Amino acid sequence: MLRVTNLEAGYGKLRVLKNVSLHVGSGEIVILLGANGSGKSTLLKTASGILRPQGGRVLFDRQDIAGAAMERIVELGCVLVPEGRQLFNPLSVRENLLLGAYLHARRSDRVRESLEEVFSLFPRLAERQAQLAGTLSGGEQQMLAIGRALMARPKMIMMDEPSMGLAPMAVDKIFQTLAQLPARGITVLLVEQNARASLAIASRGYVLETGQIVLEGSSLELMDNHDVRRAYLGKDYKRIEE
Ligand SMILES: Nc1ncnc2c1ncn2[C@@H]1O[C@H](COP(=O)(O)OP(=O)(O)OP(=O)(O)O)[C@@H](O)[C@H]1O
Ligand SMILES: [Mg+2]
Repeated sequence: MLRVTNLEAGYGKLRVLKNVSLHVGSGEIVILLGANGSGKSTLLKTASGILRPQGGRVLFDRQDIAGAAMERIVELGCVLVPEGRQLFNPLSVRENLLLGAYLHARRSDRVRESLEEVFSLFPRLAERQAQLAGTLSGGEQQMLAIGRALMARPKMIMMDEPSMGLAPMAVDKIFQTLAQLPARGITVLLVEQNARASLAIASRGYVLETGQIVLEGSSLELMDNHDVRRAYLGKDYKRIEE
């Protein structure tokens, strides 16, 4: 679904991503782990068309999207849930969701279908349709950010730290829902620092360090890796089956 090859990206003279290659297969949940400033958001910004790559290739669904406009990438079916959610706070939950459906705005049947789909995943959003986005709890705001992305009827969503600032229970709730997306035909690339929650739902993952992929493997391999345990899981971490 997504294949990034030898990607180079940064800001002006600052080179952040150096020769980054990764792929996400159709129906997979893949996690990209990395410390603050390692370049995780830069990778998602480049893959979603916010930032132009300085080199390398980005293929989405077999189409070359390196340097393509964001609107075109969304049209092809790849949608970003940005860092910090970036909701329209003075608008209602329903209005925020409808904005996510702008590509299908003229097909009211499709918009209704997408709304029902989002409400079935997040019943809380259905209850709070008229509430202003800015007054939602942090967990509800994250649900809305994901719901808004789903309104575009994507094949893939890329999420930038959905667990940020949330209480453990809210994180569990969000991740349980993310785990259901492949069954609904949606592939997921997840950028996270919460390795516990994300390795539990991902099939594979990568670790980014100062702009380079330093490790990749299945979720089980990463959970057992000494460096991942030390940096992200804590030395007392036990896998459920251990
Ligand atoms: N707009 C920008 N202009 C200049 N430098 C930037 C810009 N955005 C990010 N950077 C720099 O690029 C590097 C990578 O930042 P990036 O946001 O990709 O990291 P990150 O892995 O997402 O970190 P975090 O976990 O804190 O979100 C950092 O050194 C950062 O200061
Ligand atoms: Mg970031």
